[in-house]
Amino acid sequence: MATASAACHGGGIVYYKVLPMSMFLLLLRGLVQPVAAAACSVDAIYSFGDSIADTGNLLREGPVGFFASIGSYPYGQTLRKPTGRCSDGLLIIDYFAMALNLSLVSPYLDKGADFASGANFAVAGATALDRAVLLQSGIMAPPASVPLSSQLDWFKAHLNATACPSLQDCAKKLAGALFLVGEIGGNDYNYGFLQGFRSIEAMKAYVPQVINAIMDVAKEVIELGATQIVIPGNFPIGCSPSYLSLFAASGDLDDRGCLRSYNAFAQHHNEQLQAAIDGLRKANTDVTVVYADYYGAFMHLLDHASLLELKHSLVPGFEQGALLQACCGAGGAYNFNMNSMCGAPGTTTCADPARNVSWDGIHLTQQAYRAIALSLLMEGFAQPDDAVQEIWSC
Ligand SMILES: *[C@@H]1O[C@H](CO)[C@@H](O)[C@H](O)[C@H]1NC(C)=O
Ligand SMILES: *[C@@H]1O[C@H](CO)[C@@H](O)[C@H](O)[C@H]1NC(C)=O
Ligand SMILES: *[C@@H]1O[C@H](CO)[C@@H](O)[C@H](O)[C@H]1NC(C)=O
Repeated sequence: MATASAACHGGGIVYYKVLPMSMFLLLLRGLVQPVAAAACSVDAIYSFGDSIADTGNLLREGPVGFFASIGSYPYGQTLRKPTGRCSDGLLIIDYFAMALNLSLVSPYLDKGADFASGANFAVAGATALDRAVLLQSGIMAPPASVPLSSQLDWFKAHLNATACPSLQDCAKKLAGALFLVGEIGGNDYNYGFLQGFRSIEAMKAYVPQVINAIMDVAKEVIELGATQIVIPGNFPIGCSPSYLSLFAASGDLDDRGCLRSYNAFAQHHNEQLQAAIDGLRKANTDVTVVYADYYGAFMHLLDHASLLELKHSLVPGFEQGALLQACCGAGGAYNFNMNSMCGAPGTTTCADPARNVSWDGIHLTQQAYRAIALSLLMEGFAQPDDAVQEIWSC
């Protein structure tokens, strides 16, 4: 559900790297006139989360279940190399890094990687809550999923081993870093809804615990010296082909064709998360905490799909008739089948992923992640806006 490593030296990355950064930033920002670029002040990104940001950790753990096929084509086809990213290409975190003039953030489990621009601890399938906590109520997380608490342990081991063995140096180093805490929690809910068939009311009971787990990581990194933190909310899961294929028959669809009640659940999570973020800000007035509205940015994409990309590049917009269909899948109304997911025998990949929003029915295409990253950085979908402009001021 969020990397200059050996795994990432695919053709697609080279394409981005041969573009001078100033040119890339102009493209990214859709500007015509060059601006006097200030030096970027963020020198590293540390990321915690799930498949929305995993740039290769699960691949190195040995992907199973939902994610068994991320290590081979069609995953990574736009990069001309599967990297372990759950998409055809790049993710939001990659665009965040590029817009900071950093090389892509290496996955922590890539032991030979260069961690000069930070480290990514996100793992596809990860939950906010520990497996044992979920299991208490009979919700099964896949064996390879690495919960937030373990990702935090990895982070501490990483600091100790490489970046800053002395705590004092550490605080100095981390003050210049950007922390991305999430998106996370989506899988806690996915495992309940999609595999455990829990009701929305039943899953609401987990929301406070999930939010606490996210806040615990934020507080811990602040204690270690973090001063800039981005915390994303959940996507509108009711617009996801995975949820639609299972629950659309209930007839609970809105004007966009999305499931009302599941989107309301995602909004409920996001409201609780924002309230907790407000509390975190009040308790840490010297720390910048940005809320990244993945929900709003995704809806903006759906509502402007046919026009969105025209503004920024030469490619035509997203295909209006396929906004809620997976590019890669085994057919059906949403081109999604839980028992035959993208990459499995019998699945096919659409002709042009750049014109589709959903990649495999759970994750988005590179082009959709790119559009969302642009909205977050430039169109006010990450707040407070002035903090976002300051962090990405280079
Ligand atoms: C971007 O990074 C390159 C290489 O690290 C550096 O030479 C350049 O000055 C940076 N540009 C900005 C605007 O910070
Ligand atoms: C930190 O690193 C030292 C030396 O490599 C090691 O002995 C120690 O166990 C590490 N501590 C933690 C908490 O990982
Ligand atoms: C987008 O995905 C749908 C569903 O898989 C597919 O029918 C359509 O051809 C795709 N569009 C393009 C331009 O590839």
